[in-house]
Amino acid sequence: MNGFRSLKLSLRFILPLAIAMGLLAYAVVPLVDNLTLRWFVRDMDIRSSLIANTLHEPLVELLQQGNKSRINSLLLRSIQDERLLALGFCSDKGDLLYRTPTFPKSISCSSAINNKVGNQITRLPEGAVHVASHQIATDSGLKGQLILVHDTSFIELRSADTRKYIILLFIVLGLVTSLITVFVAHLSWRGWMDGVRAMLKGEGFLKPFSHQDVNSELQPLVGDLKTLLRSLDAERRLADDSTITWSPETLKILLHKQLVGERIIVVSNREPYIHSKKDGGIEVHRPASGLVTAVEPVMRACSGTWIAHGSGTADRETVDANDRVMVPPDKPEYNLRRIWMSEEEEKGYYYGFANEGLWPLCHIAHVRPIFRTSDWEQYVKINQRFADAVAKEADSDNPVVLVQDYHFALLPGMIRKLLPKATIITFWHIPWPNPESFGICPWREELLKGMLGSTILGFHTPYHCKNFLETVDRYLETRIEHASSTISRRGQFTLVESYPISIQWPPPWQGKVPPVEQTRKEILEKLGLPSDQMLAVGVDRMDYTKGILERFSAVERMLELHPELVGRFTFVQIAAPSRSALEEYQTFEARVHALEKRINARFARDGRPAIILKAEHHEPEEVNRYYRSAQVCMVTSLHDGMNLVAKEYVASRDDERGVLVLSQFTGAAHELHEALIVNPYHVEQTAEALYQGLTMPEYEQQERMRSMRALVSDFNVYRWAGRMLLDAARVRQREKLATRIRRDS
Ligand code: G6P
Repeated sequence: MNGFRSLKLSLRFILPLAIAMGLLAYAVVPLVDNLTLRWFVRDMDIRSSLIANTLHEPLVELLQQGNKSRINSLLLRSIQDERLLALGFCSDKGDLLYRTPTFPKSISCSSAINNKVGNQITRLPEGAVHVASHQIATDSGLKGQLILVHDTSFIELRSADTRKYIILLFIVLGLVTSLITVFVAHLSWRGWMDGVRAMLKGEGFLKPFSHQDVNSELQPLVGDLKTLLRSLDAERRLADDSTITWSPETLKILLHKQLVGERIIVVSNREPYIHSKKDGGIEVHRPASGLVTAVEPVMRACSGTWIAHGSGTADRETVDANDRVMVPPDKPEYNLRRIWMSEEEEKGYYYGFANEGLWPLCHIAHVRPIFRTSDWEQYVKINQRFADAVAKEADSDNPVVLVQDYHFALLPGMIRKLLPKATIITFWHIPWPNPESFGICPWREELLKGMLGSTILGFHTPYHCKNFLETVDRYLETRIEHASSTISRRGQFTLVESYPISIQWPPPWQGKVPPVEQTRKEILEKLGLPSDQMLAVGVDRMDYTKGILERFSAVERMLELHPELVGRFTFVQIAAPSRSALEEYQTFEARVHALEKRINARFARDGRPAIILKAEHHEPEEVNRYYRSAQVCMVTSLHDGMNLVAKEYVASRDDERGVLVLSQFTGAAHELHEALIVNPYHVEQTAEALYQGLTMPEYEQQERMRSMRALVSDFNVYRWAGRMLLDAARVRQREKLATRIRRDS
């Protein structure tokens, strides 16, 4: 196939070349003929005058003597030369007085002397001759012309020879050029094919070209091709985004159509359902984790296996022999595969490296990261344990694996080693810092190499993608294509893309909960507050990145600035206990409690506290009741990848009321523009936003809330997962195509 193409390509070069050669030969041969003829005529002229000069003296002598027979014999002797055909002597009256017998009859004295045929080649009936005349004068006054006739038939023979050689030369030249052309064309064709093949493999579309790989003559076109392919890809993605209404059903269809027969494997540290022993029985609860909130509905829609750390006190009792349990407990839809670890392993991998090292490293919350070699060793060990579990759970050699978060930076590389054909989608749920900040991690190269085992690496925002690309650029030898946001390293390529995470829409409780007014009444009663008490809410894990202290300070400042609200307003903080084994978290919790106490001491009125701190776990349904009861929800994270509390609050308000105060340092602030965006470090500004929220006219609340609800409903979690899976499907398609091309070539 390739040979035929290169032959066709070669013919396209050779035909015009052959025509050009023919035309050239056609033009050159007469030119050369003319030139050689001129050279020969000049030679003949010189020769004629040489012979004439030699004969001049003896001829003059014999003419004076009038010795006819000796003159004739002189002339006859002179034409012994093979080229000199004839000699004659004409009187100045034009009579041919002497002549050799060979003298052509068609040459007369007048024509020779008047130069009608002289000094040039002329064609006579006897053949082609050169005729020259030479003046002869004697002392006795006899004057005449010596006529020299040279046979020039040899010139014609030589011209024919020259013509033959020239044509031969052109034929040889043509053949050599053709051969070179065919050779070069063949090389070019192979270069083109390699280039196009590289692109089809994804190296030009998603994967960058390697300049060494691609033939140099393709280089000027590579940029254009890549731009074209990229724009087609972007258009396709845009079309997908705008035309698909993402729901569990669309996600299911996408999986079955685009990733036919693929079961999804999700890996995260935190499990979606935790079984714990309580009062002699077992209870199940859902953890406070943005990751779980987002991934669980996706998993329910897709089915497959979720591999996670079995951290509950009754987890071992609820799994089967393969450490699996079907969840959700009330309507089993997918497998939860639990991984066990010892206290020491959890201490090093989870508390140590992940939460004392990577968590503060990635969040700019002014807490120093701590890196210990012993923690790193546990981190490596546990990542390997999860990689082995993935290989065991996979039912094909090319599964789709969704790796979640900073607990598993090494996992993509480890899975890639065990299952080279796997499609690995890694999502980093927390921010990615700039290269300088990340650079303090002693194992920075290892972490980056591990992450680059992914096919797709997702962050919440383009800013985090940019930080990651710059970090890789700083610390690893890779090839980065900034325009297409791809990194290739040792033949493995990774697409780095932003996929803003979201929540399920419609929310699970939609149509099943009482009206807002009723919920509000119930909640206020439960809190022991009057029915007209103004309420704001904050829902977080007890974590120093969440800006809980800053939020309390803003509440305090608002009450200072607007004393009319003292006793009429209460801020409810739900703070789920989190990572409380760590000293940093214990200290933080203590500070939060202390601040709450101090503020309440100043502003509580008649059993109506300014702040109610509920530092305990709440199930999602209960949290939703608080959202629906609060006029304002405060999200004041100092740094947050996305923050799903913001989106959950918006989703809860089907009455289109309520105001969201949102930190500018969250990923959510890039999407929810109708929130009151604040800098949580600026206490007065946050306090004013809280006040503005509490006093905002209803129509304005409605407009803002409606717009934010439209966005969250459209950009729901199914779109988040769908876009990643669509990208994965394209990469898989491209890889299959590339394999076929490799096989066929
Ligand atoms: C963040 C992380 C998640 C984590 C969650 C709860 O959202 O990105 O990976 O699950 O916090 O933290 P925890 O340590 O309790 O799992």
